[in-house]
Amino acid sequence: MTTLFRPSRRRLLTGAGTLAAASAIPTGWAIAQAKPLKVGLMLPYSGTFAKLGENITLAVELLIAEKGGKLGGRDVQIIKLDDESKPEVGPQNAERLIKRDGADVVIGTVHSGVQMGIHKVVRETGTLCIIPNAGANAVTRELCAKNVFRTSFTNWQPGYGMGLALAKKGIKKAAWVTWDYAAGNESGAGFREGLETGGGKVVQELKLPFPQTNFQPLLAQIPGLDVEVVGAFFAGGGAVQFVKEYKAAGLKAPLTGSGFLTDGTLEAQGAAADGLETALHYGDGIDNPKNAAFRKAFKDKTQRDADVYAVQGYDAAQLLAIGLEAVKGNIEDEANLYKAMRAAKIDSPRGPLTLSASQETVHNIYLRRVENGQNKVVGIAAPNLADPGTGCKLA
Ligand code: BEZ
Repeated sequence: MTTLFRPSRRRLLTGAGTLAAASAIPTGWAIAQAKPLKVGLMLPYSGTFAKLGENITLAVELLIAEKGGKLGGRDVQIIKLDDESKPEVGPQNAERLIKRDGADVVIGTVHSGVQMGIHKVVRETGTLCIIPNAGANAVTRELCAKNVFRTSFTNWQPGYGMGLALAKKGIKKAAWVTWDYAAGNESGAGFREGLETGGGKVVQELKLPFPQTNFQPLLAQIPGLDVEVVGAFFAGGGAVQFVKEYKAAGLKAPLTGSGFLTDGTLEAQGAAADGLETALHYGDGIDNPKNAAFRKAFKDKTQRDADVYAVQGYDAAQLLAIGLEAVKGNIEDEANLYKAMRAAKIDSPRGPLTLSASQETVHNIYLRRVENGQNKVVGIAAPNLADPGTGCKLA
């Protein structure tokens, strides 16, 4: 059997395509190309991360619309699955999307725990996966895989950037507050590492299970810690509530952390977020033509303001488009598809975006301050920051 007529791994998984392969009629690739490319979006559309999943989806749809509804010359069919940010059903949801619904590529997800379930399944099936948010370090470190790319961040990156910025300001004593799961814990480890570069310390970590929001027992402990700042990881609905309750508690230590604390949340947080400084790979007012065009197009199409999640979704679709254009829509040509994706130079609203050898983002981590309802960029906490990719053998 020639490569040209090799039945796709995904069609084998679903059982379709067997007839064409068996009859050896030169229809395999031609038929596959005539069929729409199935892009599976496995994202949260309910719960505390619902808005994050929605904005990623809207931005993926925006990029596809800008490309005339085609990627690499192929029509695109989007299949959506609400993963509800539930890690316990992550693997079975990913299997449904790939094996039952026949997704050729998975764009997902937001929650680091759910990502580990997707990762297991895409590694087993060899399905292309582009991660548009979840920062779980392992997927581009010791568990990296040639079919897995990320256009968002590792949990380590923004935490480390914030810690570095505080170290430069001479901060010596901090606390870390978070949901107790990979995103919060790995961000906290990055924050600690950054702070330690200046001799600072995280003296206490305060945690509650995801997605609980009973913050009062944690907030009550902060005055007794006598810290100069409090770093935090929360996102979505949980971040809205945490920032409001922190402000209402009248605590003297300034609140800071990974920029998810104030991204996509400012309207709901109102004055409670004013003046907060955080670190992230995006800021509302980044001054480049791509950001201006993207923000306008996103607003025109969705009546929403763009945020970091929309940017990450748009870049996931941009990366997929670059790969598919290189292989003229033939997603089975994995060698050339992955080669083009690895070499991609993405014109991102965040600024130039490239991928490291572990297929992970290399980008600026900006220092931002909330002013007039925006995350205004006030500096660069860590320029061109690459994750260490520890344990990844992709070269
Ligand atoms: C995560 O679970 O990896 C995550 C969720 C929301 C924002 C950032 C990271």
